Amino acid sequence: MNKFDRDIIIAIDGFSSCGKSTLAKEVAQKLNYKYIDSGAMYRAVTLLAINHDLIEGVQIDEERLLNLLNKVSIDFRYNAKKNKQETYLNNNNVEDEIRDIEVSDHVSIISKVKIVRECMVDQQRKMGLDKRIVMDGRDIGTVVFPNAELKIFMTASEEVRAKRRYDEIKAMGKEVLLKDVSTNIQKRDMIDQNREESPLRKATDAIVLDNSKMNRQEQLEWVLKILSEKFGYSFT
Ligand code: C5P
Repeated sequence: MNKFDRDIIIAIDGFSSCGKSTLAKEVAQKLNYKYIDSGAMYRAVTLLAINHDLIEGVQIDEERLLNLLNKVSIDFRYNAKKNKQETYLNNNNVEDEIRDIEVSDHVSIISKVKIVRECMVDQQRKMGLDKRIVMDGRDIGTVVFPNAELKIFMTASEEVRAKRRYDEIKAMGKEVLLKDVSTNIQKRDMIDQNREESPLRKATDAIVLDNSKMNRQEQLEWVLKILSEKFGYSFT
C-alpha cells in the first residue's frame, strides 16, 4: 500500500495530445487524489455552444453564451462499469460527444473567450480548495493554481502526439484520418499558445517532461520519483 499523506496540488500542463490526462489520472489513482480534466470542461462548453448554434465561423455569440454559462453545470461522475470518470453537461453524459472532431475543431476558439475562461477557472479553483487534486490542462500551473506545489509541463514530438490521438479515436470506434488529427493538433497548439487570455506557457517553476520515448509506466515512475524526492512519497 502506497502512503502519501501530504495535501498538495499537482498541475499538469502541456501541448495537445501528449498524454496529460493519462498521466494525471494514473498519478491521482496512486495518491488517492481527485483528478480533473480541465480540457473536458472547455470541450463541454464548446458542445453547448455548438448545440445552441452560437458559433459562426470564428465568431461566437458571446452574449448568449454568457447567459448559458450563468446556469451551466459541468461535473464528473465515476462510471464503475467502464472504470472511468465521465463528463456531464447539465446532467447529461457527454463524455463521448466532447471527443468528436467537431468539438475538437472548435474548442480552441471557445477557449479564447474571456468569459468562458473566467467561468471555468472559477469552478476549477473551487474544485481545488481542499487540495489533494491532480488537474491537467493548459493554464493550470500559470493561472488556475499558480501556487501548486508540483507543476509538470508535458511535451512530445508532433508525430508521436498525432499517432497517439489517432489510436485513441480509433479505439472509440470512430473513423478519422491521421492527417486530419495532425492538422487539428497543430491548429489547436497554435491558437492555445497565441491567444491573449491565459496562453499555453510553461510556468517558470514547472518541470518539463518530454515523453516521446516513454511508455505509460515510465512516465508514471518519473512523476512518482519526483514525488518521493520532493514530498516523501513512499513506493513501499
Ligand atoms: O486537454 P484537451 O486537449 O482535451 O483540451 C481541449 C482544448 O481545451 C485545448 O486545445 C484548449 O484550447 C482548451 N483548454 C484550455 N485550457 C485548459 C484546458 C484546455 O484552453 N486548461
